[in-house]
Amino acid sequence: STDPLVVFTPSGKRGRFPVGTPVLTAARQLGVDLDSVCGGRGICSKCQITPSYGEFPKHGLTARKGALSDWNSVEQRYDDKRGLASGRRLGCQATVQNDIVIDVPPESQVHRQVVRKAASARAMVMDPAVRPYYVEVAEPDMHTPTGDLERLAEALKDQWGIEKVEAGISVLRRLQHMLRKGKWTCTVVLHKNHDEDTHRILGIAPGYYDRPIYGVAIDLGSTTIAAHLTDLRTGEVATSSGIMNPQIRFGEDLMSRVSYSMMNPGGAVEMTDAVRTAINALIGTLTAEAGIVPQQIMELVFVCNPVMHHLLLGIDPVELGQAPFALATSKSVALHVADLDINSTNDAARVFVLPCIAGHVGADAAAVALSEAPGDQDDLTLIVDVGTNAEILLGNKTQVLACSSPTGPAFEGAQISSGQRAAPGAIERIEINPDTKEPRFQVIGCGLWSDEDGFEAAIATTGVTGICGSGIIEAVAEMRMAGLLDPKGLIGSPAQTGTTRCIEDGRTHSYVIYDGTADGGPLVTVTQGDIRAIQLAKSALYAGARLLMDEMGTDTVDRVVLAGAFGAHISPKHAMVLGMIPDVPLDRVTSAGNAAGTGARMALCSVAARASIEKTVREITKVETAIEPKFQEHFVNANAIPHATDPFTTLRS
Ligand code: FES
Repeated sequence: STDPLVVFTPSGKRGRFPVGTPVLTAARQLGVDLDSVCGGRGICSKCQITPSYGEFPKHGLTARKGALSDWNSVEQRYDDKRGLASGRRLGCQATVQNDIVIDVPPESQVHRQVVRKAASARAMVMDPAVRPYYVEVAEPDMHTPTGDLERLAEALKDQWGIEKVEAGISVLRRLQHMLRKGKWTCTVVLHKNHDEDTHRILGIAPGYYDRPIYGVAIDLGSTTIAAHLTDLRTGEVATSSGIMNPQIRFGEDLMSRVSYSMMNPGGAVEMTDAVRTAINALIGTLTAEAGIVPQQIMELVFVCNPVMHHLLLGIDPVELGQAPFALATSKSVALHVADLDINSTNDAARVFVLPCIAGHVGADAAAVALSEAPGDQDDLTLIVDVGTNAEILLGNKTQVLACSSPTGPAFEGAQISSGQRAAPGAIERIEINPDTKEPRFQVIGCGLWSDEDGFEAAIATTGVTGICGSGIIEAVAEMRMAGLLDPKGLIGSPAQTGTTRCIEDGRTHSYVIYDGTADGGPLVTVTQGDIRAIQLAKSALYAGARLLMDEMGTDTVDRVVLAGAFGAHISPKHAMVLGMIPDVPLDRVTSAGNAAGTGARMALCSVAARASIEKTVREITKVETAIEPKFQEHFVNANAIPHATDPFTTLRS
């Protein structure tokens, strides 16, 4: 007689197995992704499966009750203690008796796909560097005097096929006690990077250890630091938090921090200390918010621009301030938390820093490339991630190019007369009536437009305090559309524009959006200086994009992706009216949210993603804006609104 046929879904993998084969064994032989931490001992319950019964014409079989063995005592005990959901079985206990279709639910897959909100990007598949393994270790005896670590390594080899392990001194100090406490069973947490062949023991607990293990994905920006505490089994973000980068006191932008280091002996060390202190505080916040202990955090992944990268690692960034802008290394960096003075995690925790693309294009851009994967697309896609620097990527399956462009902080609301960060009270949306030249606006923290009923009451708590980055972009674009600004960016006089909202301001004019002075509030205006700051920023952004398009030999792109916190808030129409981005149909402009942060999470959750970005970074063509004479030409032409020479046909329709 033939052996029973076993079909696994959703993979569709199938094979025949002798009666009595455990489902976990069958899954392993077929290469089906079915999790197990305890190695089939009925302890971890990670191997849960759901048998399906009935007719399966597609698979050519009928599965009847009894196709799997009955519940055994291990499953019964597990169910009594922790409860097994209805229809579920433990894959390591249930054995095959007859033809059967077996579903592996997502929670039982190690390499499960994590649902991503961003529409454009590739799916994220779990493949973390850090994983727990339960093992039973042989007891020592007088005749075979091997050490406890060697017997543990032997057990990992026999029970998990893990060939090489190493343990640091902190693990060795605890090893003997843990093994005896667990009566020769333990759970070890192992770490292995994409380019290593040795597993490192990060932690050891007696018996079966069931608390979740976390990692933190950190997007280390020049202005803000954002961190996402992530469950390394599920890929889910438990909590996120952000903090200002304390290095701001040494200089607002990157180059001023590099100069600080050049001018002040010990300046780089000061900045390194400041950022590490902030990171410790930030991780402390995450730990407290999630109600976990620092020992549960086993790995940190960083993405950052090259200057932040060097300062985090304690490398003097001076070379990044001068041509040819050499990085200390363009490979990823793997190290131990103690190397970065990080004391807010497990002592043994590891750090992975994504590779930088070039001296001006950092690991943050690499993370965007990982998350948005322009090199996987047929469409020629332009990705812009705007912060104090803009990271710009252009590419398709054939080639990917990258550059960065010094836009300055104007898009973040800095260097704008009424500018402020995006916080309650900030004007974030504006419309200007082209006939009356009257504005209406929306304020963060108040859902209503300024001319809607109830606005006054709704705004009472926050007040109107200023204008944020997305607000100033809309304001300038709306002013242009309402004829308050000429193509060169000059604000018209009251006589030219026919509105008293355009007021004299020295030798130039300003446009009044909101006048709260009667109640002691602010006068929120857009000044000629503000327009100039936005023009400089948008010209730098556009010129960077054009430079990449030149390099690619094209005048047009198929898609534009706006990445970053800024990208999430900016309106495509207004960005195009300003001429920040090249002319494409508006429905081809999308927002990718925080793509650098997503890339950091992907690298945290997957060593395959680390290998992939390391390779991608080598393949990306780097374009250096600072030394490219064409950049200046593009920059000057992009100063007009929307542009001196490029047609911007989308705007006419
Ligand atoms: Fe751990 Fe089945 S493999 S309970």
